[in-house]
Amino acid sequence: MRSKVTKAIFPVAGLGTRFLPATKSVPKEIMTLVDRPLVQYAIDEARAAGIKEFIFVTSRGKGALEDYFDNAPQLEQELRRKGKDELLDILRNTNMDSGEVAYMRQHKPLGLGHAVWCARRLIANEPFAVILPDDVIAADKPCLAQMVEAFEETQSNIVAAMEVPEDKASAYGVLDIKEDMGQIVSTKGMVEKPARGEAPSNLAVIGRYILTPTVLQKLNKKKAGAGGEIQLTDAIADAREEAGEEVYGFRFSGQRFDCGSKAGFLQATVAFALARDELREDLMNFLNDTVYAQKAAQ
Ligand code: UTP
Repeated sequence: MRSKVTKAIFPVAGLGTRFLPATKSVPKEIMTLVDRPLVQYAIDEARAAGIKEFIFVTSRGKGALEDYFDNAPQLEQELRRKGKDELLDILRNTNMDSGEVAYMRQHKPLGLGHAVWCARRLIANEPFAVILPDDVIAADKPCLAQMVEAFEETQSNIVAAMEVPEDKASAYGVLDIKEDMGQIVSTKGMVEKPARGEAPSNLAVIGRYILTPTVLQKLNKKKAGAGGEIQLTDAIADAREEAGEEVYGFRFSGQRFDCGSKAGFLQATVAFALARDELREDLMNFLNDTVYAQKAAQ
């Protein structure tokens, strides 16, 4: 029988140190691109892919994130009273149904693999998606929906992948390619944060995964890898090596922004603002003038 992917894990327990001091009190995932928090983009993408259960792995200090998914009856009432129907609709679209969202706590930031493992009891024996909200992907067809379609064919582990320059590969998990079939590649392994010059390819894993429960079993070992953290990519590589499961890389269509970094976050802000009719013209003028002034000053 073919399995369907209906659950997604959102690991949001990281410290977000690259955004200090902001992340001292604001969870990174609540920071906004234009007017929507990063986590809303992730939720919308998951929904578009058919996800029905949303599992957040959180940590100390992420209360604002849990609050974000609560209904806001007072605010709704006020908007209704003032006849602000458009805003009311926007607000209602962020509401989660009761029982649709679950929170698990990661007590120590031991790594992405460990965060995913913390959600194991809510997954049981079925394939599941993992979405890192700080990777934001602008695409006509949302990235996870593209991957779910591919999973319907392969019924095995799929990781989103993109080409990166050689000098950037050591910041990612990198695929060791067995066969390149175009959009999909089969792999014979993957290396997390390879040393410079030792990356097996230029195809890097980014924050979207569809995984089998075998990966959760492999995470039971809780073995620390690169950077002393329990790495998700190591467990995926083990599912291939030790359990003989296929692991595919998936070249998604779309533009990925690394919103875990300041430069990526700023680029995403500009790109998403330029995609909005009400903001485009003013922002274009501002950007043109600013770039012109910068160039003139050089
Ligand atoms: P990052 O590598 O971006 O780490 O984690 P971070 O802590 O969020 O940010 P920096 O590097 O300190 O600025 C990638 C994803 O894995 C989650 C993060 O929340 C983010 O979504 N993560 C990481 C956890 O949930 N737990 C961890 O122990 C580590």
